[in-house]
Amino acid sequence: MIRVSKIAHASYETPDLDQQTEYYTEILGLTPAAKEKDAVFLANTVDHHSVVLRKGAQAGCSRVAFQLGEHDDLDAFEKQVQGHGIKTQRKKDPEPSISDVLTFEDPKGTAMEVFKRADFSHQKFQAKGIVPHKLGHVAFHVTDVKHVTKFYCDVLGFRESDWMGDFFSFLRCGPDHHTINLMQTGSNRHFHTAFELRDWGHMQTACDFLSVNGYKLLWGPGRHGIGHNLFTYHRSPAGLITELFAELDRMNEELGYFEPRPWHRDHPQVPKVWGPLPTDIWGPPPTAEYVRQRE
Ligand SMILES: [Fe+2]
Repeated sequence: MIRVSKIAHASYETPDLDQQTEYYTEILGLTPAAKEKDAVFLANTVDHHSVVLRKGAQAGCSRVAFQLGEHDDLDAFEKQVQGHGIKTQRKKDPEPSISDVLTFEDPKGTAMEVFKRADFSHQKFQAKGIVPHKLGHVAFHVTDVKHVTKFYCDVLGFRESDWMGDFFSFLRCGPDHHTINLMQTGSNRHFHTAFELRDWGHMQTACDFLSVNGYKLLWGPGRHGIGHNLFTYHRSPAGLITELFAELDRMNEELGYFEPRPWHRDHPQVPKVWGPLPTDIWGPPPTAEYVRQRE
């Protein structure tokens, strides 16, 4: 089986493109890499872009792009997807730096874009704003978590890292504990997008910077149980939730357990089904606003 090996970028619609672009460049500190009519491409170093913002009637995440490994074959991957009875499309030069992309829809209607990176871009990390290391994961509300989880595992080659009860799955496509997570609620929509910070010190600087710029924390800082990452959440101007995290569990795939850490309760920490109640190790409870949007 050919498995996708990393999340490359995610694409978002937003009614006010200028305002959301300012947030991504001035607050989050991503580098603007390219601009087209009604689209902005924002970078993290070696990838030409990690985030694409497009003008749209409603804020949401419509596409997620994944990269294949250097020795994987896109034609063979396309056959693998079609083998599941899924309709695919190929597009040439769809976005800057991508020459050939395979697209198809996941069961909740989000476009999957799978490609091989032919060349590296060479943007430097910005010297202003929060400046995360990378796009870490995108979380979605889904109406049928078992069905969508099976799709990501069977079609894209994801692995299950953990479950919270039977309603929240955490899926990996590389060493990071989760790249996609899916929470069953009453609708299919974006839940949050997460960027990786260096460490706890970076998180403090980020929280102070957000506060000075008028952004309130929706939840955190704290340390989650599932994934064991330090976390904090806030809302972008378009209303979409951004998570900033650090110290997320990392899987040693050969050995089948997450790299041991002092804050783990299981030794070794292996993929499992957690209880349905909040599992945070420490930190404040979520605000009422955060809880409302989780329902
Ligand atoms: Fe998250």
